[in-house]
Amino acid sequence: MGKFQRLIVFLAGLLAASAIAHEETAVLPVYQSCITCHGSDGWGNDATRVPAIAGQQAPYLAKQLQDYRSGFRGNAVGDKWGAQMSLMAKPLTDAEITHLSRYLAAQRSWPGSAGSGKQPPSSATVCLTCHIKGDLDPSSSTPVLWGLSGDYLYRQMLAYRDGWRDGSQPGQPQSAMAPVIDVTYSEATLQELAAYFSGAAFPQSRQ
Ligand code: HEC
Ligand code: HEC
Repeated sequence: MGKFQRLIVFLAGLLAASAIAHEETAVLPVYQSCITCHGSDGWGNDATRVPAIAGQQAPYLAKQLQDYRSGFRGNAVGDKWGAQMSLMAKPLTDAEITHLSRYLAAQRSWPGSAGSGKQPPSSATVCLTCHIKGDLDPSSSTPVLWGLSGDYLYRQMLAYRDGWRDGSQPGQPQSAMAPVIDVTYSEATLQELAAYFSGAAFPQSRQ
């Protein structure tokens, strides 16, 4: 590499570093409003039923924030946790959603997100075609499920099964989960799946 090319590479590196620094500074004031519930590390809070979001896939996070903002998610009668989050997403601008998603995806992921190494139950075979382990393509909008709380996972599976979180609203794209979890899934199967992906026994006290 000649002197001139080395200078160009050096300048490009500086620009990239300053773009990341800018993203962090731009996002911090907005993330302040998320900390009360999701925590400063973004690992969520089981006791208040708030999921971990740090280290999650950026395109997935962006889609969820848009879905809460538009009322596609969190709007069903009786979905009180979704309603909390919907309220939080309402004032976000498109630029804030982009910054927040990239910022969160770049943070250290929650404990257990790499998977427990447990043998999957046969009901999980179909799930593992999309929710693969390890090196997920960062442009994928399929979320990481491992290590999220069993309570949260179970609630989301019920939401897909019973249609509170999916594509039936006009003008909204159907999500990939719509054809997967349908009425043929019993609560026992969904609890088995929640226990497998969370890496812990299903919390029986939670409904
Ligand atoms: C009042 C508490 C509260 C605040 C504040 C809050 N959230 Fe949430 N958030 C929740 C709850 C509860 C859920 C789960 C909702 C559900 O079941 O749909 C959630 C879910 C999410 C999800 C979906 C996660 C997934 O795996 O699908 C994202 C993304 C998210 N929040 C981001 C944010 C961001 C970004 C902020 C700040 C702008 C924020 N939240 C502020 C309570 C909160
Ligand atoms: C065709 C690919 C595909 C298959 C198969 C699939 N998923 Fe998904 N899953 C997705 C995508 C994409 C999303 C994000 C959908 C959205 O935006 O709501 C998702 C979202 C989820 C979520 C919500 C996670 C969160 O953080 O809120 C859960 C839980 C889930 N899937 C469980 C399962 C289970 C259990 C199975 C097997 C029974 C399964 N998935 C099979 C693609 C798939």
